[in-house]
Amino acid sequence: MMDFHILTLFPEMVMQGLHTSILKRAVEKEYIHIEAVNIRDYTLDKHGKVDDYTYGGGAGMLMQAQPVYDAYKAVAEKIYSKQPDVFISEGKEQRACRVIYVTPQGQTFNQTMAQEFAKEEDLIFLCGHYEGVDERVLEEIVTDYVSIGDYVLTGGELPAMVMIDAISRLVPGVLHNEESATTESFHNNLLEYPQYSRPEIWRDKRVPEILLSGNHAKVDEWRMEQSIERTKRLRPDLYEKWAEENGKAVK
Ligand code: ADE
Repeated sequence: MMDFHILTLFPEMVMQGLHTSILKRAVEKEYIHIEAVNIRDYTLDKHGKVDDYTYGGGAGMLMQAQPVYDAYKAVAEKIYSKQPDVFISEGKEQRACRVIYVTPQGQTFNQTMAQEFAKEEDLIFLCGHYEGVDERVLEEIVTDYVSIGDYVLTGGELPAMVMIDAISRLVPGVLHNEESATTESFHNNLLEYPQYSRPEIWRDKRVPEILLSGNHAKVDEWRMEQSIERTKRLRPDLYEKWAEENGKAVK
């Protein structure tokens, strides 16, 4: 069971997006649990305000430290209550749980990181909005700064959803066997080979003959060749990695 906690100003966005299709099934079967915590519920401001102007001037508003920190505390205490031995309430608490701040300034997310995060029992995601979050609360609670790519989005919700999807499908039980069979693309640094379903001929295009032969060894060999050729053509960077690991000369 993997427990995701998302600190956000838009809980309905992440809950809706993540309770669909395979992840919906995974939640129902209790392989994963997803909780969205509304940061606004923790503000001490009587008008429900969570943002303010930045010191030093400049455009835009910043998420304030207090509501973010108190939302984090509420989640952390819940997590620590499951494992009371690691909770130190006075002074610096031990961080038994990784806190991921999604930001374009972070390390770029990839499959290796997804595998790493999938080993955890609990993960907290902090989704920023406006121009960002007060630096002091980030210093206090964040363990990992992660980006989903070199472009800027309006908020951290979509990046958090992307990461939760990629991590969830690595949690044992979430994918059925037939689903995980088609998911090896990045495990060995090669892209997926082309695949075909019925009919045998569509708009004059035939399914490659070898796939109809029933010769599994030949089919495997063909698929491997296709994967290599495709990776070399479309993702030379990945091909280089694969070639290095497999002792092949890179051409
Ligand atoms: N927030 C805004 N843009 C982002 C990105 N590319 N990755 C992660 N978080 C973000």
